[in-house]
Amino acid sequence: MSVLIAPSILSANFAALGEAIAAVERGGADLIHVDVMDGHFVPNLTIGPPVVTSIKQVAHVPLDVHLMIEEPDRYIEAFAKAGASMMSVHVEVLPHLHRTIHAIKALRVRAGVVLNPATPVVALEEIAADVDYVLVMSVNPGFGGQTFIERSESKVQDVRALLDRAGNRAPVEIDGGIDLENVARVVSAGARIIVSGSAIFHAPDPERATRELKAAALAAVMSPAR
Ligand code: DX5
Ligand code: ZN
Repeated sequence: MSVLIAPSILSANFAALGEAIAAVERGGADLIHVDVMDGHFVPNLTIGPPVVTSIKQVAHVPLDVHLMIEEPDRYIEAFAKAGASMMSVHVEVLPHLHRTIHAIKALRVRAGVVLNPATPVVALEEIAADVDYVLVMSVNPGFGGQTFIERSESKVQDVRALLDRAGNRAPVEIDGGIDLENVARVVSAGARIIVSGSAIFHAPDPERATRELKAAALAAVMSPAR
């Protein structure tokens, strides 16, 4: 893996998800990022397993399912059956994070842990060796189209350093407010999975926006010094 682009369908037209997914796949999308919200952990409601099942039938790339829900243990099996290849859970909702991560892995799904902007990196300390990826939220979760929180750049570096100390080469994913202007900075900081919603799906041509974001991200991997 060098760097993967994961368009978030949250900002797509939900009445035409198949076309939206086909467009970003033509543009080089490596994953489809699916935002699941419950109206409790975050103040918004989105989609559940039946929609993921339908998406799985049309997508050619793996589905990266981001669970912004309370009690995710109740739903991980349903999302695995629906076709998730990757599933991430928020550290803020889980008193038994180790159990949940291993339950996701037991379903043969890659297991990720997510940190909200106000959650310190040290919250990962005891789980760093177990995770398949770490998602750093660079906005407060709940909505697309928010402004990138600048401090997230150094947080990506800190998460990368923590994973390295744990001997874990798992990638760092970043989600929230990523666009052509800031993607190089977060890649240089160590992000290797790039989620982007509104910068892709609110662009006039999502296929082209995906291609441009990917080119900018790959260029930053090739020339890490800035
Ligand atoms: C926010 C979601 C994000 C969102 C990103 O709660 O987790 O995945 O779709 O959208 P943008 O790129 O518009 O910030
Ligand atoms: Zn997300």
